[in-house]
Amino acid sequence: MRKFPPFLVLSIVLCFHNFRSTSFMALKRERTLAMIKPDGIYGNFTDRIKQVILENGFFIVQELMVQLVVENATLFYSEHSAKSFFPNLVEYMTSGPVLAMVIEKTNGISEWRALIGPTDAGKARVSHPHSIRAMCGSSAQRNCVHGSDSALAAAREILFFFGDISAGLFYLKLANCAYVSISLQKCAVAVELHVGLGMDWRGHRRQTNRLLSHMTVEHDEL
Ligand code: RTP
Ligand code: MG
Repeated sequence: MRKFPPFLVLSIVLCFHNFRSTSFMALKRERTLAMIKPDGIYGNFTDRIKQVILENGFFIVQELMVQLVVENATLFYSEHSAKSFFPNLVEYMTSGPVLAMVIEKTNGISEWRALIGPTDAGKARVSHPHSIRAMCGSSAQRNCVHGSDSALAAAREILFFFGDISAGLFYLKLANCAYVSISLQKCAVAVELHVGLGMDWRGHRRQTNRLLSHMTVEHDEL
């Protein structure tokens, strides 16, 4: 039987593997957390924002309108706790109800970030005039919508509002668990540590439930 040089076999295997990975990555269906902030709700932009979501091919999986209290907003935006704008951010996020939504689409995390536009709504109006923040935001702070910025953030934020372990596991797989051979529980702990909660999966569930019990649920429709 004819023998192929090992480097040729290796090249073909790697090409095939890369092709499969690339195709998989390109077609990744993702859930992300979208939120309409208090200025978006008060400005009556909810219906228009939802219309943009649906027109852009997202599916709204779950939604929940809640009034965040200081403890919730502080935890949700804990990555910014050392920033000078943090106290104002917490005050803004607790100034009225927010509408949290789990939305889903192929490459949904980056697609939603692209749709909302840059953080500063004033700059968005110049550089991304068709973005959601250009439509309903008014400043670097009052930018009317939120979007998770990574798969880890999406997992954490969906759990934060919805306490939905199945949505969380979906992301744990996407984030890294499916690709490194460690148990799901270890992976969950790793992700928890990464997002700075520093507790085990059940602990996070308990904390999520406790926070949810402090929120005022105003509206919950599917
Ligand atoms: P988000 O997390 O809400 O989707 O916003 P983002 O990723 O575009 O921006 P990020 O840096 O995560 O900031 C979180 C929120 O903090 C407020 N902010 N205020 N200079 C300021 O006054 C300032 N900078 C940021 C905004 O509400 C921003 O969305
Ligand atoms: Mg952010």
